[in-house]
Amino acid sequence: MIDFKKEITDILSKNIDNIEWEELNGMIEIPSNSEMGDFAFPCFKLAKTLKKAPNLIAKDIIDFISENKFFEKIEIVGAYVNFHVDKEVFVESVIGEILTKKDMFGSSKMGEGKNVIVEFSSVNIAKPFHIGHIRSTVIGNSLYKIYKFLGYNAISINHLGDYGTQFGKLIVAYKLWGKKEDIEADPIPELLKIYVRFHEEAEINPELDEEARNWFKKLEGEDAEAVELWNWFRRVSLKEFDRVYEMLGIKYDSLAGESFYSDKMPRVLDMMRENNVIEKSQGAEIVDLEPYGMPPALITKKDGSTLYITRDLAAAIYRKEHYDFYKNIYVVGSQQNLHFKQWMKIIDLMGYDWSEDCIHVPFGMVSLDEGTMSTRKGRVVFLEDVLRKAVEKTKEIIAEKSPNLENKEQVAKDVGIGAVVFQELSNNRIKDYIFSWDRTLNFDGESGPYVQYTHARSCSLLRKAQIDYKDNIDYKLLNEKEVMDLIRLLNQFPNVIQDAARKNEPSLITRYVIDVAQGFNKFYHDYPILVEDKEIQKARLSLVSAVRQTIENALKLIGVAAPEKM
Ligand code: ARG
Repeated sequence: MIDFKKEITDILSKNIDNIEWEELNGMIEIPSNSEMGDFAFPCFKLAKTLKKAPNLIAKDIIDFISENKFFEKIEIVGAYVNFHVDKEVFVESVIGEILTKKDMFGSSKMGEGKNVIVEFSSVNIAKPFHIGHIRSTVIGNSLYKIYKFLGYNAISINHLGDYGTQFGKLIVAYKLWGKKEDIEADPIPELLKIYVRFHEEAEINPELDEEARNWFKKLEGEDAEAVELWNWFRRVSLKEFDRVYEMLGIKYDSLAGESFYSDKMPRVLDMMRENNVIEKSQGAEIVDLEPYGMPPALITKKDGSTLYITRDLAAAIYRKEHYDFYKNIYVVGSQQNLHFKQWMKIIDLMGYDWSEDCIHVPFGMVSLDEGTMSTRKGRVVFLEDVLRKAVEKTKEIIAEKSPNLENKEQVAKDVGIGAVVFQELSNNRIKDYIFSWDRTLNFDGESGPYVQYTHARSCSLLRKAQIDYKDNIDYKLLNEKEVMDLIRLLNQFPNVIQDAARKNEPSLITRYVIDVAQGFNKFYHDYPILVEDKEIQKARLSLVSAVRQTIENALKLIGVAAPEKM
């Protein structure tokens, strides 16, 4: 792709002394109104250094640029020199780039040699994989793909909640009321049932809590029975979760969850004691965070057992030592803001300068009409149910609207699940929202199916065309305003991806692809494509093909499929 900004800088830099290339490059602006040109150079910024009036500088610039093939018009407007990119050169550069790079269009090598960890989903063993987990799961999966596309060596981790006192509770509950066959048959609801019962009975009979603590201690001490039960809970739960990950097309590089750090905590605790980061408090160990405006962090309990935060400290240190990460990203709800601030501060207090490379990417909460979701009270919507219903609904729509479609099952999956994921990634991640079946199953408007449908429409046009549109295209023929706007938008794709990575905000890509679909539909509406004139047809088809490729690449980055027919 031609870097027009670089071309301008090159010319300026060759003719202007005592100002660095980078500095000149940084001064170039993009006018907000495209009628003012594609780039603008503010001459007044050079007035002081060159000891010359801006209008004279502008005249000089115009003089030394005179001949070049990149710009069709260069003019002085006030204290600016405005550059109008040659349309044909621009169109050829953008479409040519897309059609050569294909599924790599938008990618970059900027991340080469750098490891980026993206931790996401991090569900809890023996608990439902519910609608509240969807955000971490799909935002994280998208970030993972985005970093990979930018050349980083991305590593996805599911930091499973597979450790802690609740496993003591679960063991006690199982021994009292659990039935092996029932749990094998329907693991999560059955385990949830006995877990809820444990809490009810423990209110009347607090000894149960004591017993649960003992069983967790046994688990930590690797007691054979405790470990076997724990392993089994873990195994049957993961089998359930895998169905959901499979539906979403998610595969992990690592499933190192909380239990993975059980033997790594003692060393970390010793280090903290040595550096005097930790202090004793009523038999427990804490880190005083008052100087940083935070409550103290409890690191070990009176009985010596460890906590969630202890495992996060051990996990961060392990990840640094094992992966030497450039960035260590955690996609976790904003309810845990304090937790992350606390342990990142502790890592800093331990003297690790890489604490700044640990990044919490928070997002708002999903609640239900009835109130917040509560696993203990059994008030939850399973994510698997949501995805299944979306697929069912899509099947009905297909049966009604295109009963002869090939591959109906697969398309229903791609579109139904895509709709849910797309919607989840349409909004800025920080906002809280209330889950509603109606909204989730509404495919109208700026939705995933709308974009997928646009993609399928472009595929169909390319199929119908009886013409080779890949060579000898006369790009001059693509010059109408709507067409240029669409091509300018396609040209933005690499920047949008980089921006999404910088802000850890995949919704930028979701919104971008809606713009592309809308731009395309406007073009399609205003300009016939399969026209008599072969040259025009070829040029327009090359644009259709570029749009199709861009939509496919964008959807892939947010974890949504792009079926060719629907
Ligand atoms: N399992 C935890 C939960 O459901 C989320 C874990 C987040 N990751 C972490 N490293 N603390 O709340």
